[in-house]
Amino acid sequence: MVETNGFENRHTVTSIESSNLSSSAKRFMKILAIETSCDETALAVLEIKGKPSSPSFSVLSHHVASQIALHTQYGGVFPAMAKREHAKNIVPLFKETMEQCFSSQKFQVKSQKIDPKKIKKLEKILEREREMFDALVPLIQNLKKPKIDAIAVTTGPGLEPTLWVGINFARALSYIWNIPVIPVNHMEGHILSIFPKKKGKEFSIGSFQFPVLSLLVSGGHTEIVLVKGWGKYKVIGQTKDDAVGEAFDKVARMMDLPYPGGPEISKFALDARREMLKADFKLPRPMLHTPNFDFSFSGLKTAVLYLIRDMGKLVENDKKKIAREFEDAAIEVLTVKTMKALKKYKAGTLIVGGGVAANSHLRSELVKATTALQDTRYKTRVYFPTKELTTDNAIMIGIAGGLQFTKANKGISYTSKKLVADGNMSL
Ligand code: KG4
Ligand code: ZN
Repeated sequence: MVETNGFENRHTVTSIESSNLSSSAKRFMKILAIETSCDETALAVLEIKGKPSSPSFSVLSHHVASQIALHTQYGGVFPAMAKREHAKNIVPLFKETMEQCFSSQKFQVKSQKIDPKKIKKLEKILEREREMFDALVPLIQNLKKPKIDAIAVTTGPGLEPTLWVGINFARALSYIWNIPVIPVNHMEGHILSIFPKKKGKEFSIGSFQFPVLSLLVSGGHTEIVLVKGWGKYKVIGQTKDDAVGEAFDKVARMMDLPYPGGPEISKFALDARREMLKADFKLPRPMLHTPNFDFSFSGLKTAVLYLIRDMGKLVENDKKKIAREFEDAAIEVLTVKTMKALKKYKAGTLIVGGGVAANSHLRSELVKATTALQDTRYKTRVYFPTKELTTDNAIMIGIAGGLQFTKANKGISYTSKKLVADGNMSL
């Protein structure tokens, strides 16, 4: 548990899964997954069994240190502050993750001191991560190499300073343990986050008929992705300006609601629906009828700004009405465009992922719209991640890395030039 107090240290670390390895289990491979692309530091160990064409996964351990409480105080995520938090939390989180899935080894002190030359080299690898180096050395000195075959790490998209924390940590472990690294695209992780269904339950990757369509909605992204096969993606539409989650956050801020604004707006909108509070104003649905799959949310956000300016001081009911109409507008555009794309590409499966996939109105509208499609010749099923896995996590990174690794059975070296943070990486 990273449970400290005071200004910089408000983290809650949630373990969502823990189990010891069954000795009778047919071992295939284990992957350590690392996620630091934004404001959650997350580590997981996944075990992968079965044929490379249809692997099944178990989560042996998953720990998340969320920085949300810290960023709430500032109304958003500041990259330098986020980077410091990741650097501070990653080693304690790693220790917990390892102890949980390799409990028999318990980080025993074996006094098998690492060769000083190796430590020097490690210092070089972590030259930009002094705090991490200082915390990692005493730990690694006493850690017997665990049975881990590869390390999956998010290399983009995201905030580059925070991505580097995870990448450098992966490089350090890769060097010490002499195992490869698998670079993972964070957005592929969100697509694959629908597969784990229940805590502690083994899961396999669905054998859908391709193409599958994916709607990815988060604080940094809004895109429709054509999935031609696992690992084969084409972005067919995306936002021209703000991401939908970003628009939720900014509108919440205009109404003095805390960060992250998505869940706050969603609560107010839900109240408005329950209380039958309907707005006597209409907000725009930008790009609703354009003949492409792109989005734009900055005009909608600006329309809310002008509306609030004209309304003057907002009472609780005004906020509820604005939240409802804003949510209706944003979700109508997402739903209409996604349905158009499903029809055009004749996709029978829709996967929704990312932080905004937690929004219950989005969920119900997409279910309604895809159900309506079933009366036509397009039969479509829609899949969402569990609420826990809508936010950033390391399980989804482990799945994406595991799929790559089982297919090719190789990763890259910690010295590879491909191991770089790419804030704008696309699918
Ligand atoms: O995927 P995510 O955890 O992080 C990014 O990669 O951005 O997404 C975070 C975003 C935030 O903008 C947050 O306000 C939004 O997801 N969000 C929601 C809801 N829960 C989180 N937006 C609308 N409704 C929600 N219930
Ligand atoms: Zn994300």
